Amino acid sequence: MAQPFSARSRAIEPFHVMALLARANELQAAGHDVIHLEIGEPDFTTAEPIIRAGQAALAAGHTRYTAARGIPALREAIAGFYASRYGLSIDPGRILITPGGSGALLLATSLLVDPGKHWLLADPGYPCNRHFLRLVEGAAQLVPVGPDSRYQLTPQLVERYWDHDSVGALVASPANPTGTLLHRDELAALSTSLKARGGHLVVDEIYHGLTYGCEAASVLQVDDDAFVLNSFSKYFGMTGWRLGWLVAPSNAVSELEKLAQNLYISAPSMAQYAALACFEPATLAILEERRHAFQRRRDYLLPALRELGFRIAVEPEGAFYLYADISAFGGEAFAFCRHFLETEHVAFTPGLDFGRHLAGHHVRFAYTQNIERLQQAVERIARGLQTWRPDAV
Ligand SMILES: Cc1ncc(COP(=O)(O)O)c(C=O)c1O
Repeated sequence: MAQPFSARSRAIEPFHVMALLARANELQAAGHDVIHLEIGEPDFTTAEPIIRAGQAALAAGHTRYTAARGIPALREAIAGFYASRYGLSIDPGRILITPGGSGALLLATSLLVDPGKHWLLADPGYPCNRHFLRLVEGAAQLVPVGPDSRYQLTPQLVERYWDHDSVGALVASPANPTGTLLHRDELAALSTSLKARGGHLVVDEIYHGLTYGCEAASVLQVDDDAFVLNSFSKYFGMTGWRLGWLVAPSNAVSELEKLAQNLYISAPSMAQYAALACFEPATLAILEERRHAFQRRRDYLLPALRELGFRIAVEPEGAFYLYADISAFGGEAFAFCRHFLETEHVAFTPGLDFGRHLAGHHVRFAYTQNIERLQQAVERIARGLQTWRPDAV
Protein backbone atom coordinates (compact mmCIF):
# COMPACT_ATOMS: atom_id res chain seq x y z
CA MET A 1 0.00 0.00 0.00
CA ALA A 2 1.30 3.48 -0.86
CA GLN A 3 2.46 5.75 1.93
CA PRO A 4 -0.25 8.21 3.03
CA PHE A 5 0.05 11.87 2.25
CA SER A 6 1.62 13.89 5.02
CA ALA A 7 -0.25 14.50 8.25
CA ARG A 8 0.39 18.23 7.83
CA SER A 9 -1.28 18.22 4.45
CA ARG A 10 -4.20 16.16 5.68
CA ALA A 11 -4.70 18.54 8.59
CA ILE A 12 -5.40 21.46 6.30
CA GLU A 13 -9.02 22.15 5.52
CA PRO A 14 -10.18 23.19 2.08
CA PHE A 15 -12.12 26.41 1.61
CA HIS A 16 -15.67 25.28 2.28
CA VAL A 17 -16.94 27.94 -0.07
CA MET A 18 -15.28 26.09 -2.96
CA ALA A 19 -18.10 23.53 -2.89
CA LEU A 20 -20.54 26.41 -3.25
CA LEU A 21 -18.42 28.01 -5.94
CA ALA A 22 -18.37 24.76 -7.92
CA ARG A 23 -22.16 24.61 -7.67
CA ALA A 24 -22.41 28.29 -8.60
CA ASN A 25 -20.34 27.59 -11.72
CA GLU A 26 -22.58 24.65 -12.60
CA LEU A 27 -25.66 26.83 -12.28
CA GLN A 28 -24.00 29.47 -14.41
CA ALA A 29 -23.04 26.93 -17.06
CA ALA A 30 -26.71 25.89 -17.13
CA GLY A 31 -27.61 29.48 -18.04
CA HIS A 32 -28.48 30.95 -14.63
CA ASP A 33 -27.41 34.45 -13.70
CA VAL A 34 -25.40 33.97 -10.50
CA ILE A 35 -24.41 36.98 -8.40
CA HIS A 36 -21.03 36.31 -6.85
CA LEU A 37 -20.50 37.80 -3.42
CA GLU A 38 -18.30 34.98 -2.19
CA ILE A 39 -14.93 35.84 -3.68
CA GLY A 40 -12.32 37.91 -1.83
CA GLU A 41 -11.06 39.59 -4.95
CA PRO A 42 -11.73 43.05 -6.38
CA ASP A 43 -13.93 42.87 -9.47
CA PHE A 44 -11.88 45.59 -11.18
CA THR A 45 -9.18 44.43 -13.57
CA THR A 46 -5.67 45.71 -12.93
CA ALA A 47 -5.40 49.44 -13.63
CA GLU A 48 -4.30 50.34 -17.14
CA PRO A 49 -0.92 51.97 -16.28
CA ILE A 50 0.13 48.81 -14.39
CA ILE A 51 -0.89 46.59 -17.30
CA ARG A 52 1.08 48.79 -19.69
CA ALA A 53 4.12 48.64 -17.41
CA GLY A 54 3.78 44.83 -17.31
CA GLN A 55 3.62 44.68 -21.11
CA ALA A 56 6.68 46.93 -21.38
CA ALA A 57 8.52 44.73 -18.86
CA LEU A 58 7.84 41.65 -20.97
CA ALA A 59 8.90 43.45 -24.14
CA ALA A 60 12.11 44.53 -22.41
CA GLY A 61 12.87 40.91 -21.52
CA HIS A 62 12.28 41.05 -17.77
CA THR A 63 11.45 37.38 -17.76
CA ARG A 64 14.12 35.95 -15.49
CA TYR A 65 14.67 35.44 -11.77
CA THR A 66 15.37 38.54 -9.76
CA ALA A 67 17.25 38.86 -6.48
CA ALA A 68 15.42 36.92 -3.76
CA ARG A 69 14.63 40.16 -1.92
CA GLY A 70 13.11 41.65 -5.06
CA ILE A 71 14.27 44.39 -7.42
CA PRO A 72 15.82 47.40 -5.66
CA ALA A 73 13.63 49.87 -7.57
CA LEU A 74 10.45 48.31 -6.22
CA ARG A 75 11.76 48.10 -2.67
CA GLU A 76 12.67 51.77 -2.88
CA ALA A 77 9.26 52.63 -4.34
CA ILE A 78 7.55 50.86 -1.44
CA ALA A 79 9.78 52.70 1.04
CA GLY A 80 8.73 55.92 -0.71
CA PHE A 81 5.10 54.91 -0.29
CA TYR A 82 5.60 54.47 3.47
CA ALA A 83 7.08 57.98 3.54
CA SER A 84 4.23 59.60 1.62
CA ARG A 85 1.29 57.64 3.11
CA TYR A 86 2.42 57.22 6.70
CA GLY A 87 5.25 59.73 7.15
CA LEU A 88 7.55 56.80 7.91
CA SER A 89 11.16 56.38 6.98
CA ILE A 90 11.64 52.67 6.25
CA ASP A 91 14.99 51.41 5.03
CA PRO A 92 14.33 49.61 1.68
CA GLY A 93 16.79 47.01 2.97
CA ARG A 94 14.06 45.89 5.40
CA ILE A 95 11.57 45.19 2.59
CA LEU A 96 11.38 41.81 0.87
CA ILE A 97 9.23 41.38 -2.22
CA THR A 98 7.24 38.15 -2.07
CA PRO A 99 4.83 36.11 -4.23
CA GLY A 100 1.66 37.70 -2.84
CA GLY A 101 0.98 38.44 0.79
CA SER A 102 0.83 34.64 0.99
CA GLY A 103 4.58 34.53 0.27
CA ALA A 104 5.17 37.03 3.07
CA LEU A 105 3.13 34.85 5.43
CA LEU A 106 5.18 31.81 4.40
CA LEU A 107 8.41 33.68 5.18
CA ALA A 108 7.15 35.01 8.51
CA THR A 109 5.83 31.68 9.78
CA SER A 110 8.96 29.85 8.58
CA LEU A 111 11.20 32.34 10.35
CA LEU A 112 9.35 32.78 13.61
CA VAL A 113 7.61 29.53 14.52
CA ASP A 114 9.25 26.35 15.80
CA PRO A 115 7.39 23.02 15.95
CA GLY A 116 4.86 22.98 18.76
CA LYS A 117 4.84 26.77 19.18
CA HIS A 118 1.86 28.89 18.45
CA TRP A 119 0.60 32.32 17.52
CA LEU A 120 -2.56 33.88 18.82
CA LEU A 121 -5.06 34.53 16.04
CA ALA A 122 -8.50 36.09 16.15
CA ASP A 123 -11.40 33.73 15.38
CA PRO A 124 -13.04 34.62 12.98
CA GLY A 125 -10.04 35.36 10.78
CA TYR A 126 -8.33 34.58 7.50
CA PRO A 127 -8.24 30.75 7.37
CA CYS A 128 -4.86 30.33 5.65
CA ASN A 129 -3.09 31.84 8.66
CA ARG A 130 -3.69 28.80 10.80
CA HIS A 131 -2.87 26.50 7.90
CA PHE A 132 0.51 28.16 7.33
CA LEU A 133 1.24 27.69 11.02
CA ARG A 134 0.33 24.02 10.72
CA LEU A 135 2.62 23.64 7.70
CA VAL A 136 5.62 24.75 9.75
CA GLU A 137 4.53 22.29 12.46
CA GLY A 138 3.38 25.10 14.70
CA ALA A 139 -0.21 25.89 15.56
CA ALA A 140 -2.78 28.60 15.86
CA GLN A 141 -4.17 29.45 19.27
CA LEU A 142 -7.58 30.64 18.13
CA VAL A 143 -9.00 33.42 20.27
CA PRO A 144 -12.79 33.83 19.99
CA VAL A 145 -13.58 37.47 19.30
CA GLY A 146 -16.81 39.33 18.83
CA PRO A 147 -18.33 42.78 18.51
CA ASP A 148 -17.14 43.81 21.98
CA SER A 149 -13.53 44.00 20.74
CA ARG A 150 -14.60 44.80 17.19
CA TYR A 151 -13.48 41.26 16.32
CA GLN A 152 -9.86 42.12 17.11
CA LEU A 153 -7.33 40.84 19.64
CA THR A 154 -6.78 43.06 22.66
CA PRO A 155 -4.06 43.05 25.35
CA GLN A 156 -6.64 41.53 27.72
CA LEU A 157 -7.23 38.65 25.32
CA VAL A 158 -3.49 38.20 24.83
CA GLU A 159 -3.15 38.02 28.60
CA ARG A 160 -5.91 35.42 28.83
CA TYR A 161 -4.78 33.14 25.99
CA TRP A 162 -0.98 33.42 26.18
CA ASP A 163 0.75 30.28 27.46
CA HIS A 164 4.24 28.78 27.58
CA ASP A 165 4.04 27.69 23.91
CA SER A 166 2.94 31.09 22.61
CA VAL A 167 5.56 32.95 20.56
CA GLY A 168 3.56 35.66 18.87
CA ALA A 169 0.30 37.07 17.60
CA LEU A 170 -0.90 37.72 14.09
CA VAL A 171 -3.55 40.39 13.65
CA ALA A 172 -5.05 41.95 10.55
CA SER A 173 -6.13 45.53 10.05
CA PRO A 174 -8.42 45.83 8.15
CA ALA A 175 -9.44 42.27 8.89
CA ASN A 176 -10.97 39.55 6.77
CA PRO A 177 -13.89 38.64 7.20
CA THR A 178 -15.02 41.53 9.42
CA GLY A 179 -13.46 44.63 7.82
CA THR A 180 -12.57 46.09 11.22
CA LEU A 181 -9.41 48.07 11.94
CA LEU A 182 -6.91 48.26 14.75
CA HIS A 183 -6.33 51.93 15.42
CA ARG A 184 -2.96 53.36 16.27
CA ASP A 185 -3.42 53.27 20.05
CA GLU A 186 -4.72 49.69 19.84
CA LEU A 187 -1.70 48.62 17.80
CA ALA A 188 0.55 50.33 20.34
CA ALA A 189 -1.17 48.53 23.22
CA LEU A 190 -0.84 45.16 21.47
CA SER A 191 2.80 45.88 20.76
CA THR A 192 3.47 46.64 24.43
CA SER A 193 1.64 43.51 25.47
CA LEU A 194 3.58 41.29 23.04
CA LYS A 195 6.91 42.88 23.92
CA ALA A 196 6.28 42.28 27.61
CA ARG A 197 6.02 38.57 26.78
CA GLY A 198 8.95 38.48 24.37
CA GLY A 199 6.49 37.60 21.57
CA HIS A 200 6.47 38.67 17.95
CA LEU A 201 3.79 40.95 16.61
CA VAL A 202 2.90 40.24 12.99
CA VAL A 203 0.40 42.54 11.33
CA ASP A 204 -1.39 41.78 8.10
CA GLU A 205 -1.89 45.16 6.40
CA ILE A 206 -2.99 43.62 3.11
CA TYR A 207 -6.21 45.65 2.99
CA HIS A 208 -4.53 48.97 3.67
CA GLY A 209 -5.72 51.58 1.19
CA LEU A 210 -9.21 50.08 1.28
CA THR A 211 -10.54 52.05 4.23
CA TYR A 212 -13.57 54.27 4.26
CA GLY A 213 -13.66 57.62 5.98
CA CYS A 214 -10.35 56.98 7.76
CA GLU A 215 -6.80 55.88 7.05
CA ALA A 216 -5.45 52.70 8.58
CA ALA A 217 -2.47 53.12 10.88
CA SER A 218 0.55 50.95 10.16
CA VAL A 219 2.00 49.10 13.11
CA LEU A 220 5.36 50.46 11.97
CA GLN A 221 4.21 53.86 13.23
CA VAL A 222 4.31 52.48 16.76
CA ASP A 223 6.61 49.46 16.65
CA ASP A 224 9.70 49.22 14.48
CA ASP A 225 10.23 45.59 15.49
CA ALA A 226 6.90 44.33 14.18
CA PHE A 227 6.63 42.23 11.04
CA VAL A 228 4.28 43.59 8.39
CA LEU A 229 2.62 41.55 5.64
CA ASN A 230 1.38 43.48 2.65
CA SER A 231 0.25 42.80 -0.88
CA PHE A 232 -0.37 44.24 -4.32
CA SER A 233 -3.51 42.10 -4.54
CA LYS A 234 -6.26 44.17 -2.96
CA TYR A 235 -5.83 47.98 -3.03
CA PHE A 236 -3.50 47.75 -6.02
CA GLY A 237 -5.84 45.27 -7.75
CA MET A 238 -3.16 42.79 -8.84
CA THR A 239 -4.41 39.47 -7.43
CA GLY A 240 -3.28 37.36 -10.37
CA TRP A 241 0.19 38.91 -10.61
CA ARG A 242 1.13 37.28 -7.29
CA LEU A 243 3.04 40.05 -5.60
CA GLY A 244 3.33 41.22 -2.02
CA TRP A 245 5.93 42.30 0.48
CA LEU A 246 7.19 41.80 4.00
CA VAL A 247 8.72 44.50 6.17
CA ALA A 248 10.97 42.98 8.82
CA PRO A 249 13.36 44.26 11.47
CA SER A 250 16.88 44.66 10.01
CA ASN A 251 18.33 41.77 12.00
CA ALA A 252 15.86 39.33 10.37
CA VAL A 253 16.51 40.24 6.76
CA SER A 254 19.42 37.98 5.81
CA GLU A 255 17.71 34.99 7.44
CA LEU A 256 14.53 35.79 5.49
CA GLU A 257 16.51 36.19 2.31
CA LYS A 258 17.91 32.70 2.76
CA LEU A 259 14.39 31.34 3.22
CA ALA A 260 13.15 33.20 0.15
CA GLN A 261 15.99 31.81 -1.98
CA ASN A 262 15.06 28.31 -0.94
CA LEU A 263 11.28 28.56 -0.91
CA TYR A 264 10.56 30.37 -4.18
CA ILE A 265 13.84 31.93 -5.49
CA SER A 266 12.15 35.23 -6.33
CA ALA A 267 8.75 36.83 -6.81
CA PRO A 268 7.58 37.04 -10.45
CA SER A 269 9.88 39.33 -12.37
CA MET A 270 7.41 40.99 -14.77
CA ALA A 271 4.97 41.56 -11.90
CA GLN A 272 7.67 43.41 -9.98
CA TYR A 273 8.41 45.71 -12.92
CA ALA A 274 4.70 46.23 -13.52
CA ALA A 275 4.19 47.17 -9.87
CA LEU A 276 6.57 50.10 -10.23
CA ALA A 277 3.65 51.84 -11.96
CA CYS A 278 1.47 51.44 -8.83
CA PHE A 279 2.99 54.46 -7.18
CA GLU A 280 2.58 56.89 -10.09
CA PRO A 281 0.03 59.65 -9.47
CA ALA A 282 -2.11 58.55 -12.44
CA THR A 283 -2.39 55.03 -11.04
CA LEU A 284 -3.06 56.18 -7.52
CA ALA A 285 -5.86 58.39 -8.87
CA ILE A 286 -7.51 55.31 -10.40
CA LEU A 287 -7.05 53.31 -7.20
CA GLU A 288 -8.56 56.10 -5.14
CA GLU A 289 -11.59 56.19 -7.44
CA ARG A 290 -11.99 52.47 -6.89
CA ARG A 291 -11.70 52.94 -3.17
CA HIS A 292 -14.62 55.39 -3.36
CA ALA A 293 -16.60 52.87 -5.38
CA PHE A 294 -16.05 50.28 -2.63
CA GLN A 295 -17.14 52.80 -0.05
CA ARG A 296 -20.37 53.52 -1.96
CA ARG A 297 -21.03 49.81 -2.15
CA ARG A 298 -20.49 49.35 1.56
CA ASP A 299 -22.71 52.33 2.28
CA TYR A 300 -25.45 50.73 0.21
CA LEU A 301 -25.13 47.08 1.25
CA LEU A 302 -24.61 47.50 4.99
CA PRO A 303 -27.95 49.21 5.76
CA ALA A 304 -29.76 47.13 3.13
CA LEU A 305 -28.72 43.85 4.79
CA ARG A 306 -29.44 45.19 8.26
CA GLU A 307 -32.89 46.17 7.06
CA LEU A 308 -33.48 42.55 6.02
CA GLY A 309 -32.58 41.32 9.51
CA PHE A 310 -28.91 40.44 9.17
CA ARG A 311 -27.05 41.53 12.28
CA ILE A 312 -23.83 43.36 11.44
CA ALA A 313 -22.88 44.55 14.86
CA VAL A 314 -19.80 46.58 13.97
CA GLU A 315 -19.62 48.94 11.03
CA PRO A 316 -16.63 47.76 9.00
CA GLU A 317 -14.18 50.53 8.19
CA GLY A 318 -12.18 48.68 5.57
CA ALA A 319 -11.61 45.75 3.17
CA PHE A 320 -14.68 44.76 1.11
CA TYR A 321 -16.51 42.41 3.40
CA LEU A 322 -19.57 42.35 5.62
CA TYR A 323 -19.65 39.66 8.28
CA ALA A 324 -23.25 39.07 9.20
CA ASP A 325 -24.94 37.14 11.99
CA ILE A 326 -27.88 35.17 10.59
CA SER A 327 -29.32 34.03 13.96
CA ALA A 328 -32.50 36.02 13.34
CA PHE A 329 -33.39 33.63 10.51
CA GLY A 330 -32.57 30.37 12.30
CA GLY A 331 -30.65 27.47 10.82
CA GLU A 332 -27.04 26.85 9.99
CA ALA A 333 -24.83 29.00 7.78
CA PHE A 334 -23.75 26.46 5.18
CA ALA A 335 -27.33 25.35 4.55
CA PHE A 336 -28.35 29.01 4.51
CA CYS A 337 -25.77 29.79 1.82
CA ARG A 338 -26.80 26.75 -0.18
CA HIS A 339 -30.44 27.82 -0.03
CA PHE A 340 -29.70 31.25 -1.51
CA LEU A 341 -27.47 29.79 -4.17
CA GLU A 342 -30.00 27.17 -5.25
CA THR A 343 -33.14 29.28 -5.09
CA GLU A 344 -31.95 32.81 -5.83
CA HIS A 345 -28.54 32.27 -7.43
CA VAL A 346 -26.72 34.53 -5.00
CA ALA A 347 -23.42 33.16 -3.68
CA PHE A 348 -21.85 34.16 -0.37
CA THR A 349 -19.54 32.47 2.11
CA PRO A 350 -20.43 30.46 5.25
CA GLY A 351 -18.70 31.44 8.49
CA LEU A 352 -17.06 28.04 8.75
CA ASP A 353 -14.38 29.25 6.35
CA PHE A 354 -13.14 31.77 8.93
CA GLY A 355 -12.86 29.69 12.08
CA ARG A 356 -15.03 27.99 14.63
CA HIS A 357 -16.36 30.64 16.95
CA LEU A 358 -20.10 30.98 16.21
CA ALA A 359 -19.19 30.13 12.64
CA GLY A 360 -22.48 28.33 12.00
CA HIS A 361 -24.35 31.56 12.64
CA HIS A 362 -22.40 33.83 10.34
CA VAL A 363 -21.90 34.45 6.66
CA ARG A 364 -19.61 36.81 4.76
CA PHE A 365 -20.65 39.01 1.87
CA ALA A 366 -17.93 40.45 -0.40
CA TYR A 367 -19.08 43.65 -2.08
CA THR A 368 -17.02 42.96 -5.16
CA GLN A 369 -19.89 43.75 -7.53
CA ASN A 370 -21.23 47.08 -8.73
CA ILE A 371 -24.15 48.76 -6.98
CA GLU A 372 -26.70 47.59 -9.54
CA ARG A 373 -25.70 43.98 -8.99
CA LEU A 374 -25.75 44.52 -5.24
CA GLN A 375 -29.28 45.88 -5.52
CA GLN A 376 -30.33 42.81 -7.46
CA ALA A 377 -28.65 40.64 -4.84
CA VAL A 378 -30.56 42.36 -2.04
CA GLU A 379 -33.86 41.90 -3.88
CA ARG A 380 -33.12 38.23 -4.36
CA ILE A 381 -32.02 37.76 -0.76
CA ALA A 382 -35.23 39.44 0.45
CA ARG A 383 -37.22 37.01 -1.68
CA GLY A 384 -35.12 34.02 -0.59
CA LEU A 385 -35.75 34.81 3.05
CA GLN A 386 -39.46 34.20 2.43
CA THR A 387 -38.74 30.63 1.39
CA TRP A 388 -35.96 29.85 3.92
CA ARG A 389 -37.05 26.99 6.18
CA PRO A 390 -34.33 26.39 8.76
CA ASP A 391 -35.85 23.12 9.92
CA ALA A 392 -36.24 21.66 6.47
CA VAL A 393 -32.51 20.91 6.09
C1 LIG B 1 -6.34 38.74 5.30
C2 LIG B 1 -5.65 38.20 4.10
N1 LIG B 1 -4.32 37.99 4.17
C3 LIG B 1 -3.65 37.51 3.12
C4 LIG B 1 -4.27 37.23 1.92
C5 LIG B 1 -3.42 36.69 0.80
O1 LIG B 1 -3.53 37.42 -0.38
P1 LIG B 1 -2.42 37.50 -1.50
O2 LIG B 1 -1.53 36.31 -1.39
O3 LIG B 1 -3.17 37.56 -2.79
O4 LIG B 1 -1.66 38.77 -1.23
C6 LIG B 1 -5.66 37.41 1.81
C7 LIG B 1 -6.40 37.06 0.58
O5 LIG B 1 -7.60 37.05 0.51
C8 LIG B 1 -6.35 37.92 2.93
O6 LIG B 1 -7.68 38.13 2.90
